Amino acid sequence: MTVTDDQHHDPMSEAEWLLRNPPQVPPLHIGGIRVDPPVLQAPMAGYTNFAFREMVRSYGGAGLQATEMISAKGFVWLDEHECEHPDRLWGVKDESRPLAVQIWDNDPETLAKVGARLATEYQVSVVDINFGCPVKQVTEKAHSGSYLLRFPERVGRIIERVVAACAPTPVTAKIRLGCTRDQINAIDVAQVVEGAGAAALTVHGRTAEDFFKGHADWDRISAIRPHLKRIPLIGNGDLDSPVKVLAAFHRYAIDGVMIARASLGRPWLFRQVQAALRGEPIPREPTVGEQREAMLRHYDLVCQRFGDQKGTHLMRKYACNYASGRPGARQFRGHVAHVGSREEFLRAVALYFPKVDDLSESAEDSPCETCE
Ligand SMILES: Cc1cc2nc3c(=O)[nH]c(=O)nc-3n(C[C@H](O)[C@H](O)[C@H](O)COP(=O)(O)O)c2cc1C
Repeated sequence: MTVTDDQHHDPMSEAEWLLRNPPQVPPLHIGGIRVDPPVLQAPMAGYTNFAFREMVRSYGGAGLQATEMISAKGFVWLDEHECEHPDRLWGVKDESRPLAVQIWDNDPETLAKVGARLATEYQVSVVDINFGCPVKQVTEKAHSGSYLLRFPERVGRIIERVVAACAPTPVTAKIRLGCTRDQINAIDVAQVVEGAGAAALTVHGRTAEDFFKGHADWDRISAIRPHLKRIPLIGNGDLDSPVKVLAAFHRYAIDGVMIARASLGRPWLFRQVQAALRGEPIPREPTVGEQREAMLRHYDLVCQRFGDQKGTHLMRKYACNYASGRPGARQFRGHVAHVGSREEFLRAVALYFPKVDDLSESAEDSPCETCE
């Protein structure tokens, strides 16, 4: 698509036009929490732990960060058995705000109990409830996550109860468009969510049945907006570049966006998006050397918490994300998948993220046909 610049009458790509004319996007408010820029870091189970959040925070640009989803039943069980709170709450008490903690279950009382603890003891900024998870363990086994989209009145009861238990801490909901393509009911659910007192709604533009197939349907996300009177609508799905975020704000009726997968090996993406929204030059992709340093910083954070052995094991998958899109990524993945110690991990990193003079990296990064 080309767009004409009124002043210069030069045809230019839509991307260029958007970069020169970024949409004016005000901060959004979730209850009393100001989210600026209105670009949120998504919850991702197994990934968005303290180490990842700290990486994102170090670059900046995410208006609100979120933990992984936490089982409310699991939390209660640990509490009743006087065990330590879930690993997934690592860092939550001490890290800077704003921070959202996401919980899941299908029982209003259990969710309210945990929500209240998070609001008072942990002083989190936002309690988010998961109504979007499509994974069988959560849906079929626990009748939670996206399973609940079939039962909007249950969603409403859950939210009402959690809102009452957490007040004044705002409670939000994250949903998908529906359970299946034949059962898209996001507008109904959105109205229930708002009516029950939630402070924001995030919508991933796929159904549970879609899992991650196809494209997120942003028209359907946008169609929800006129049905909400009070709360912000946050769109989510497939945003993987600053230009795509600009285009989402330009084309669709949304108040904010949430980014998940694309940020996994690129915690600096939010900073790039923020610059694009401000009409500033977009910070370049980090050099190989900088990516290596970032990955090692991430690794140290993980090892500080879990020790070298478990830390190395966990870091295997995070390291693959950093390599994604780089020359040699496939080989790196094959290699790093088998590392078992700090030494082996560092050796793999040194091999695939070599210490080269950053000035020569443009040559090193030149496209390699055989790599991803
Ligand atoms: C590995 C992984 C874990 C996820 N875990 C969660 C989660 O804990 N809670 C949640 O609401 N969504 C979760 N999601 C969904 C994302 O938050 C997001 O809705 C989805 O990935 C679409 O956004 P994207 O296209 O930017 O990745 C997860 C997604 C991935 C890939």
